[in-house]
Amino acid sequence: MADSEPVAAGLPIQREAECVVDDLTGAALEARARQLLPRAVYDYYAGGSETETTLHEAPLAWHRWRLRPRMLSGVAAPDLTTTLLGTPVSSPIGVPPWALQRMAHPDGELATAAACARAGTLMTVSTTATVPLAQVAAVAPDSAKWFQLYQVHGPAYTDDLVRRAADAGYRALVLTVDLPILGRRLRDIANDFQLPEGLVMANHPDQADIRSDAEMPAPPVVGSGVSVRRLSQALDSADKTPPWTYAAVEHFAGLTDLPVVVKGVLRGDDAVGCLDAGASAVWVSTHGGRQVDRAISSAAALVDVVSAVSERAEVYVDGGIRSGTDALVALVLGARAVFCGRPIIWGLATGGADGVAAVLARLRAELVHSMTLCGVASVERVPRDLVTI
Ligand SMILES: Cc1cc2nc3c(=O)[nH]c(=O)nc-3n(C[C@H](O)[C@H](O)[C@H](O)COP(=O)(O)O)c2cc1C
Repeated sequence: MADSEPVAAGLPIQREAECVVDDLTGAALEARARQLLPRAVYDYYAGGSETETTLHEAPLAWHRWRLRPRMLSGVAAPDLTTTLLGTPVSSPIGVPPWALQRMAHPDGELATAAACARAGTLMTVSTTATVPLAQVAAVAPDSAKWFQLYQVHGPAYTDDLVRRAADAGYRALVLTVDLPILGRRLRDIANDFQLPEGLVMANHPDQADIRSDAEMPAPPVVGSGVSVRRLSQALDSADKTPPWTYAAVEHFAGLTDLPVVVKGVLRGDDAVGCLDAGASAVWVSTHGGRQVDRAISSAAALVDVVSAVSERAEVYVDGGIRSGTDALVALVLGARAVFCGRPIIWGLATGGADGVAAVLARLRAELVHSMTLCGVASVERVPRDLVTI
């Protein structure tokens, strides 16, 4: 502490404490990523749709719950291992699909995959990855990976993508159904967000494929000034591909032997409809507040979905999970696993694979800590009476 600082007011101590707390909660990591990334890229990752109400409410919704810790339990070393659709993982905290990772770091999805493999964590790879799905899978062939599907460029192309994902060793197919059209992300519009030069959406067809099908809009496959309008056009392919309906869920469940997970469900009745249509699990999500602005929070939706699903299937959740304690609350509310988006992005942006590994390690340590304090021995046996509003 510098001699000249006003010790009497207690200010230096307070400032130091804030700084340490920021580091521990990951806020400092986001601040570092913000400094490193171009403004439009940071905004693309950080932003939500329209007024960003759902984005901002997401972490607060987990904070509304209060723990009812169990004392005298004798828990010293909680067990975080579990299975997700039969695949063993080292912890119930996974990495969700997120697009365009090579914008955050040159190694992009390859770095995220390496870090997840090291940690024994489940990674979900996006259709809009900047590295082809087979290359991501090859980084760690034996690690737990799921493939997230958008219906791009017509049924034949999409069905083939599913087959390629199965061949590459992905262990589940995640249908993201909350993007019938792209949300209105005002930051991207204001910034005229462009896919940076040299990056490609590696799982989209190449230009030659596109030209052979006059029906298809030109996709943003080449990283040369592809605007948000073009990005939106490529994903808004509802007029070219079947819309997301229960029939589409049935189609993909019938097409592949992989279990199908439906991501983006926010209502119990939708969740039951997906299971009836052949899905093996549902994933409660607001797409990180990037789609329906003023949608209910994932934390609130989880309660309804878990109750409607009533032990028929595994339920996962993401949106605003920022700490091990958030994860514990979600597990208590009935989630089998949670997924953490933005903090992983900031980890990749600031430190590549090591940065992602550090975020995963922090979340894991926090979950162990919270479980120990609350007397929870295993993530597979989390008492449902451990929280109250
Ligand atoms: C920059 C960014 C890109 C995303 N891309 C995808 C995607 O390609 N597919 C998908 O299903 N979800 C995508 N998502 C949503 C995430 O899978 C996840 O639902 C969300 O990030 C969770 O919220 P959190 O960031 O508050 O943890 C994206 C989210 C962000 C922030």
